[in-house]
Amino acid sequence: MPGDDLSWRRTDCRVCHEETLYPFLDLGTIPPANGFVDTPEADEPAYPLEVVVCETCNHVQLHDTVDGESLFREYHYFSSASSPLIAHFGSYASTIESQYLDDDDFVVEIGCNDGILLNQFGPSIRKLGVDPAENVAETARERGLETITEFFGPDVADRIREDYGQANAICANNVVGHIDDLHGLMTGVDTLLSSDGVFVVEVPYLLDLISNHQFDTIYHEHISYFSIRAFRRLVEQFDMQLSDVNRMAVHGGTIRVHIQRESVDRSPSRTVEDLTSLELAMGFDRPETYDEFATGAERTRTRITTLLNRLNDDETTIVGYGAPAKGNILLNYCDIGPDTLDYIVDTTPAKQGTYSPGMNIPVREPAVFRAEPPDYALLLAWNYRDAILDKEVTFRDNGGRFIIPIPYVDIV
Ligand code: TYD
Ligand code: ZN
Repeated sequence: MPGDDLSWRRTDCRVCHEETLYPFLDLGTIPPANGFVDTPEADEPAYPLEVVVCETCNHVQLHDTVDGESLFREYHYFSSASSPLIAHFGSYASTIESQYLDDDDFVVEIGCNDGILLNQFGPSIRKLGVDPAENVAETARERGLETITEFFGPDVADRIREDYGQANAICANNVVGHIDDLHGLMTGVDTLLSSDGVFVVEVPYLLDLISNHQFDTIYHEHISYFSIRAFRRLVEQFDMQLSDVNRMAVHGGTIRVHIQRESVDRSPSRTVEDLTSLELAMGFDRPETYDEFATGAERTRTRITTLLNRLNDDETTIVGYGAPAKGNILLNYCDIGPDTLDYIVDTTPAKQGTYSPGMNIPVREPAVFRAEPPDYALLLAWNYRDAILDKEVTFRDNGGRFIIPIPYVDIV
């Protein structure tokens, strides 16, 4: 049902509100990347996936917004299914706790998923999760985390402030990019954050996306692709500033951004200015930079489809490895379906037994992969490349090969 009223096109920038959006990459009209379906015949909604850059503030974002109700109320992504992420959030919790928090302080997490971060804070910290996905929030509750099942915004922030008081830290991981109304988010943060509190955000970093050709991380859920420059522009409108930024390898390249009120006297780290300069040196203020990125995506598509067509004969079996959302963008954009990949293997129980959105490739459990190993496995979860290559040493020792699609098409 392309073009139904569950999606709408922006005319103005989500950060600066200027009507200066420049389209540079069209990934087609495709179903939501986490929309796994129960039957291959399902009537799947599909929406335009086009990327624009604002010529005023250079914020990279989707042209269209898909209604959050349809994307996030029932969610198949459970953070704790990926063991490397549990470790990532464990060290995240202890860092934030030792750097910013005292006993009895209050932490709110926006988009708490199954509680992977909050549950790793110490027992003396008060915690509250907010997440709109009923099924995921239920899992968080079962794990003992108090959770509000709502989209975060100014009203929810008012309510939390009334019921619990202001927060000493607000965390938001892999969720700020999902929010259409960034000014609503910041208004809520402004209400909820204590005067010397910290707002800590983790988002995929635009610089890694561009440098490593990660076009498959672009999907309807990810509305914004942040640079440091765009982040600064956003928070300055709310009298806040970036006090620190950490770059991390998780999710193929992430920034952890620390935001405080301008009145707080913790002096900003040099990394904020250094990354701002690096972004300018990389041409993030020029449309041609984004045009080149789009050309790179087309080149990757040609290479992958040429390779798979060459391998795909009657004797050779090829499967997908990992069913991340990004894998579904790659498969749809490259038009790779069940004729090419027999199945996709994934560790997430909720995805097993379903069919991938759009291309409708069956998703199977790891036991199937072990029982009948294929000749080739297309590594759709390329962000876990090292962990997966280590884990599948038996498959590789027996002659199985991984096809790596990103950053460069390669066989190992
Ligand atoms: P991830 O890259 O975390 O997310 P996104 O959906 O945002 O692109 O998804 C990784 C997927 O890969 C997830 O469905 C779990 C799966 N996976 C495996 O099947 N095996 C593994 O060893 C690992 C690490 C992940
Ligand atoms: Zn803008």
